[in-house]
Amino acid sequence: MDSKLQVFSGSANPALAGEIADHLGIPLGRSFVGTFKDEETRIRIEDNVRGADAFVVQPTCKPVDHHIMELLLMIDALRRASARRITAVIPYYGYARQEKKTTGREPISGKVVANLIATAGANRLLTMDLHTPAIEGFFDIPVDHLRAVKLLTTKLRQMHLEDVVIVSPDPGGVLRANDFRARIGASLAIIAKHRPQPDVAEMLEMVGEVRGKNAVIVDDIISTGGTLVEAANMLMDRGAKAVYSFGVHAPLSGGAAGLIARSAIQQVVVTNTIPLTAAQKGDKIEVLTVAPLIAEAIKRIHEDVSVSALFT
Ligand code: R5P
Repeated sequence: MDSKLQVFSGSANPALAGEIADHLGIPLGRSFVGTFKDEETRIRIEDNVRGADAFVVQPTCKPVDHHIMELLLMIDALRRASARRITAVIPYYGYARQEKKTTGREPISGKVVANLIATAGANRLLTMDLHTPAIEGFFDIPVDHLRAVKLLTTKLRQMHLEDVVIVSPDPGGVLRANDFRARIGASLAIIAKHRPQPDVAEMLEMVGEVRGKNAVIVDDIISTGGTLVEAANMLMDRGAKAVYSFGVHAPLSGGAAGLIARSAIQQVVVTNTIPLTAAQKGDKIEVLTVAPLIAEAIKRIHEDVSVSALFT
């Protein structure tokens, strides 16, 4: 694109946005992102964006609704200030696990959020490891869907573990786990998970052999940590030598950090799509940066070059 590339950040993950701008070799766009005294969100874009190719970096992590509102108002402000094209860069797409009705009289919240983003004026979406790829179809604007799999499998290879079995902690994650498995050449195990109530995970059964192996649980989201810790317990009960975990997004809600710290899991590797404090990371959680990948995707979108080449 001929117009000037500008990257702005909401308040959700300014450190990641800053890193992305550094990789692009440009300063982060200046903006005021705050609230009025009555807690309404207040936004002002402080750079001239007339004719710009503008990118707004804002994972919609906790406080989820507030960060969504910041994103919507930043997009609106950019549109009204005559940016030529606006890309919402949402490394972690909140509400993604509410992408279908599980019982009667429920909303499809992931679709409502998609509608809001498009209605606010986003021309494109750049996102990462959506809970399910079908969410791309919630948008009638172009979606570039990055995957952290290369980054994570590179890290796993560097750990030089032997006899690895990749484990999907629920049937919904089998494609993701199998992609991971194929890239490193390991075997696969699949756990059947049941949620007796929201945010509670129970492991029912497992298919695959884990005895004497290094079990690596691969998941997209680590929220309460229940899925991870219950899966790890099952793997240890079934004779795994040790349990490791690779996740993409770590919203770590409630007591997740403590649960993981006290668990049998040796090491948890996640990315920085969502910021984590040092206390949350503790000794077990290692965070890999997705900034170079997102920066490269932004560069390619700006230059009209293929983005899928980044992860295929
Ligand atoms: C569920 O389908 C996802 O892939 C994750 O397994 C889930 O979001 C993890 O949530 P929690 O950590 O709360 O068990």
